[in-house]
Amino acid sequence: MLTRIITEGRTKVEVPVPEESSSFPPSSAAVFYNPAMQSNRDMTVAAIACFSKSSPDHTYLDALSASGIRGLRIANEVGLSTTMNDWDEIAFDLITKNIALNNLSNCTAIKRNANMVMLDSSFDIIDLDPFGSPVPFLDAACRSVKHLLCITATDTAPLCGAHGKAGIRNYAAVPLKTEYYPEMGVRILMGAVARTLARYDKAMVPLLSIARAHYVRLFASVKKGISEADDCLKSMGFISHCFGCGARIWKYGLAVHMEEKCPACGKTASPAGPLWLGRLHDRSFCDEVIEEVKKREFKEIEKLITSCRNELDIPMHYDYHKISRSLGITAMPTDELILTLRDKGYQASRTHFSGISFKTDAGMEEIRKIVIALSQKRDLRSIA
Ligand SMILES: C[S@@+](CC[C@H](N)C(=O)[O-])C[C@H]1O[C@@H](n2cnc3c(N)ncnc32)[C@H](O)[C@@H]1O
Ligand SMILES: [Zn+2]
Repeated sequence: MLTRIITEGRTKVEVPVPEESSSFPPSSAAVFYNPAMQSNRDMTVAAIACFSKSSPDHTYLDALSASGIRGLRIANEVGLSTTMNDWDEIAFDLITKNIALNNLSNCTAIKRNANMVMLDSSFDIIDLDPFGSPVPFLDAACRSVKHLLCITATDTAPLCGAHGKAGIRNYAAVPLKTEYYPEMGVRILMGAVARTLARYDKAMVPLLSIARAHYVRLFASVKKGISEADDCLKSMGFISHCFGCGARIWKYGLAVHMEEKCPACGKTASPAGPLWLGRLHDRSFCDEVIEEVKKREFKEIEKLITSCRNELDIPMHYDYHKISRSLGITAMPTDELILTLRDKGYQASRTHFSGISFKTDAGMEEIRKIVIALSQKRDLRSIA
């Protein structure tokens, strides 16, 4: 395997060089390394630095480590005692070399099935960064984790509803492909995590929950306790989506009756869930991460975390361009729509999911009226 040494953050890492003939995905290489996931790893360094500020003795498990890049950065740039695991022989050798390359004395490399590692020991912080779905590791991780779960999922098609049957099999939940599909993916995954933790009398407390190009990333703190777990499950529920007019309603609970007819237009609505309807982020945690990101000059993610910090907690965003298209009009800048919604007395915000999306407590009918009025105002302005 041809390798080279790169520097990511403040850490040196020997990584495989992709062969000339092989293009994406990097999963075809002898050891996985994807430079495009640097922003995901930067985010992890900043989030874990904040989370462990008052507990520098936290232990961190990089359960699916490949080159070790994630765990190395946590050991080197945050200073936590780190275990890096990969069952692949070549990956394990590379991790061992990379620990020596950085002169790290707070790291252990192991070569086992990640599930066995987690079933054998508890860790304060567990990071799952698998090929595709984290589901094969979720049960052992939820049993083993004491304080923080960090989870990446790249199986966005099942999570977001594009491959509905796979979503149902993997997550025991019905996803729907809607215009808010990235948020559907985040909430389906969070629902699965909350229900798995609950089996071990633990509660999920979301700190930061992100959907980006091809992945979902969660940072969720974990609270032990039966009543905490019971309370956490109260944020689970179902969505009913109308593909006729775009209206959506949601209900909390795991045994609830969803109306079949859309309350706005009377067409048959489609149910999705069970999924997480609670908050996606903790604002004060986001504030801390933003400060950390600035300090460490992780420029690429500052805007992203700031968008998360500022988005409303209301489930399921709207797509301004889709609504405009359905009305046969051209959209204005998203900020103008948000200001108009606020002027009319509604809550409204941008979201981190896309530049043309927004969240509001206004219903579909009110939103349509406001979108039309805004476009008419523009037309009048251009005539004057
Ligand atoms: C997506 S890669 C990890 C990437 C790495 N975390 C990074 O940031 O570059 C997934 C890794 O998990 C390893 N793996 C898959 N199943 C495993 C299992 N059951 N136990 C241990 N390692 C496993 C693979 O060998 C692969 O190296
Ligand atoms: Zn409808």
